[in-house]
Amino acid sequence: MLATAQAACLIGIEAHPVQVEVRLGEGLPGFDIVGLPERGVRESRIRVRAALSSIGFAFPPRHLVLNLAPGDLPKTGSGLDLAIAASILAACEGVSPEQLASTLLVGELSLSGELRPVRGVLALLRSAKQAGLAHAIIPEGNRHEAMLVKGVSVHCAPHVGAVIRWLNGDAPLPEPAAPTVNASMLERAEPDLSAIRGQEAARRALEIAAAGGHHMLLIGSPGAGKTMLARALPSILPPPTAEEALEIATIASSAGLRSPCVLIGRARPFRAPHHTASAVAIVGGGEPVRAGELTLAHRGVLFLDELPEFRRDAIETLRTTMEEGEVVISRAKQRVRLPAAPMVIAAMNPCPCGYHGDPTRFCRCSEHQIARYRSRVSGPLLDRFDLQVAVPRVSARTMRNAARGEPSKTVRRRVERARERIALRSERSGLESLTRDVSKEALTLLEVGVERLKMSARAYLKALRVAHTIAALDGVGEVLPAHTAEALQYRVLDREPT
Ligand SMILES: Nc1ncnc2c1ncn2[C@@H]1O[C@H](COP(=O)(O)OP(=O)(O)O)[C@@H](O)[C@H]1O
Ligand SMILES: [Mg+2]
Repeated sequence: MLATAQAACLIGIEAHPVQVEVRLGEGLPGFDIVGLPERGVRESRIRVRAALSSIGFAFPPRHLVLNLAPGDLPKTGSGLDLAIAASILAACEGVSPEQLASTLLVGELSLSGELRPVRGVLALLRSAKQAGLAHAIIPEGNRHEAMLVKGVSVHCAPHVGAVIRWLNGDAPLPEPAAPTVNASMLERAEPDLSAIRGQEAARRALEIAAAGGHHMLLIGSPGAGKTMLARALPSILPPPTAEEALEIATIASSAGLRSPCVLIGRARPFRAPHHTASAVAIVGGGEPVRAGELTLAHRGVLFLDELPEFRRDAIETLRTTMEEGEVVISRAKQRVRLPAAPMVIAAMNPCPCGYHGDPTRFCRCSEHQIARYRSRVSGPLLDRFDLQVAVPRVSARTMRNAARGEPSKTVRRRVERARERIALRSERSGLESLTRDVSKEALTLLEVGVERLKMSARAYLKALRVAHTIAALDGVGEVLPAHTAEALQYRVLDREPT
């Protein structure tokens, strides 16, 4: 007797359909799995046997051959357990095969038959829809991940026994319900922009970064408020569009993150990895391939605090990713593409002691020490930051006297309007289109600045792009000298003779 169940396997953040075929053969009793099962899948045999015996199913004294198709795709993870169990039952005539043909089965089994949550349910469900399957069964623990999928009827199950009853039409299974998300969960850990006193220049730069989606580097002494500024950024970004929400939630789901706000597409991610993080943790990789922080922050914010302390191999890969918006991991058997287009916000001290250029504290570092500290971050990487902003310390008096600044909500409205304006103008990447709509004087001013600061061609283009964003925030269609002049101000590392 041959039986087939529908499953899917996660690779990176994408799911690939897998058919589980079982054949009961003659020969010595046994249980073989073929079709490139990796370790987690091979262990499935033990879990499935125990789980099925927990519902009173006795394995037939026959030779079971399990084939995972397509044969050239390496099968990873524990999510195939449920499909394997169901196909064995079907081969032994314990489950009707009709329903099995049109249902995606997802879940890891415990020894007592409970369904454990797995990574990547959203991607798995999207693949089920593409494959034209009508139903999907997922573990109860993954129920929030089903909210953004339309076109597949999804059911949540606590136990393999409940799945079998449903497959045989004996008992219904609940559909997933949306998590309750209240306003306070959405506003959660983010500081409001109004909590930051003084710092007008840095707040302005933050607004420009948000409007244009520019990468930004904050340079300032300890306690200047760099971390606070970076954490306030998500509060002035527009909420994700429906398409972005699906991308964000798919990534979070594949990483096993369970934040309801992200999974239902209400919030952008904010990731702040520690500087001891490995290159794989930042960029992605491993076996099986998993997304790194660059991907987890996709369409949101990646905050790298104390940039020079990061491992060099980890941040140098940033360089290409910051421009290309994706990570490609090449393996012998496959190439895995991971979307990776976050806004990168980095913070660093100006020197090892942290007080170089501080008006009130004396810097103890030698020229040589400063140069060595800065050289930990390569010039080409620093060049990738469109905005390089000095964050001076705010004195206690300023802090006390400064009026509360604008709240995030007001700034976010301006950012949204500027983004609409930017979106209206077509592709602005090439030099030709970037110099269109720029007044002659504005261009001359920029060129003089570029000469004087000895900026690279890339830095020149970046300054032009920033000037466009500033003009959009200003609500004008033409880039004026004031805009290019301001854009040049955000190249502090180029301005400062080191
Ligand atoms: N301009 C400011 N307004 C209000 N609080 C500030 C300001 N600057 C710094 N702080 C406070 O000082 C502390 C240190 O700021 P932080 O952002 O961690 O500095 P940095 O990252 O530059 O070392 C924070 O807890 C923050 O509350
Ligand atoms: Mg800090």
